[in-house]
Amino acid sequence: MARNDPRFVCKTCGATRPRWAGKCDACGAWNSIIEETSREGAPKGLGKGKGRTLDFVDLRSAQGNVARYPSGMVELDRVTGGGLVRGSSVLLAGDPGIGKSTLLLQAASALAANGVRADYISGEEGIEQIRLRADRLGLTEAPVRLATATSVRDILTSLESGKPADVIVVDSIQTMYLDTLDSAPGTVSQVRGAAQELIRHAKLSGSVLLLVGHVTKEGQIAGPRVLEHMVDAVLYFEGERNHQFRIVRAVKNRFGPTDEIGVFEMTGAGLAEVSNPSALFLNPERGPVPGAAVFAGIEGTRPVLIEIQALVAPGPPGSPRRTVVGWDSGRLAMVLAVLEAHTGFSLSSSDVFLNVAGGLRIGEPAADLAVAAAIVSSYSKRPVPEGSTVFGEIGLSGEVRPVPQHAARLKEAAKLGFSQAIVPNVGGGRNGYEPAPAEISLSRIALIDELADLLASPNETGFVGVSVGRT
Ligand code: TYD
Ligand code: MG
Repeated sequence: MARNDPRFVCKTCGATRPRWAGKCDACGAWNSIIEETSREGAPKGLGKGKGRTLDFVDLRSAQGNVARYPSGMVELDRVTGGGLVRGSSVLLAGDPGIGKSTLLLQAASALAANGVRADYISGEEGIEQIRLRADRLGLTEAPVRLATATSVRDILTSLESGKPADVIVVDSIQTMYLDTLDSAPGTVSQVRGAAQELIRHAKLSGSVLLLVGHVTKEGQIAGPRVLEHMVDAVLYFEGERNHQFRIVRAVKNRFGPTDEIGVFEMTGAGLAEVSNPSALFLNPERGPVPGAAVFAGIEGTRPVLIEIQALVAPGPPGSPRRTVVGWDSGRLAMVLAVLEAHTGFSLSSSDVFLNVAGGLRIGEPAADLAVAAAIVSSYSKRPVPEGSTVFGEIGLSGEVRPVPQHAARLKEAAKLGFSQAIVPNVGGGRNGYEPAPAEISLSRIALIDELADLLASPNETGFVGVSVGRT
């Protein structure tokens, strides 16, 4: 490509293409392709000069364990795998207003209080604004060094003079710019270029770099996905803005697990940690109602009980609506198709709405059976019996498959006072559920039509612990 030729870049994923298009082929985003002038010339090859010879080393580390800075915020440390790793870069991505700045100001203060040198650099807010927030959070005494800047050159010059910081927060990467690039802050090339320089500094100095990235659906700035491959860990900060619960989820982590979540509650004085989230997504005051089922899920290493709500309502002929919040819509379509094929329910003329209570997003296939139970319950207008929890995966042929960690799920359900569980029928000792808590009676089902039978004909006390599955 000749110098300064325009090229077209997707703001969402960073893919380049020769022509403009309404939809990005790479990530499927609409209206995300913009024109950027390229400064790079054609690849020139290496030419003649010889490079430096590399020193190859073995895999054994001389240091033993990686050095980490635990923040002392248990929920955050859980997601990062025990603390921030020296020299690593972490991207905290989330919708505007979800609480990223609040979380990182709290984390920086907690670190600083433990003697970690923490710098907080904001390109979005003024010093007084940040101080006001610190005041609201009760953190004005924390020895965090605060600065506002948007020029990466200024930031690096300041960081390189004097003692290096242990942790550097940059809020947000979309406001930072490199003066060597022509494009405006927030464009794909600026976001990438600025991040690259900051990450290089972190690697060389051993500081931890925490970058804030706004998720942008529309608008003119590049999203965090263009950075995901450059950083060591990507944390997503999720939650409904009008819900108080916030979840930090690792989607990539070179130094820890990626299936853990950290749960927080946004209060008037900042984010409070929720160490026992199980009870959070339940509705204990309300008795059983049709269309609600409690799923015994696993988030990372923790069992979490979550209410799943379904509403099956007659819809206009021809175009039934399927609306899902907190679950995969493709998976809902599959569960509906399996229910229709195996139970004789006619769902294709009904609208189906599905909601995961509390603003959580579930990814586990183990939720299939709970979703099916909520749908069957709403369809048949009979509540799932009080005190019961559900888990299991559903296959296309209508079979209910076992899922991992059933012992942990049942234990958590027993702890929260549940007395019954609808579970897959697995083989083995006490039919595969040894050791199951004695307080819970199990209804094991092997096929989806047994679920419909089970919920359609409960006796007065709800269904009892009879195994209707094949043993
Ligand atoms: P913020 O951290 O500024 O979000 P982000 O950096 O992701 O854009 O948080 C903004 C929201 O959080 C704002 O709507 C107000 C709310 N909030 C509280 O409810 N309590 C608090 O103590 C703070 C600091 C913010
Ligand atoms: Mg912010």
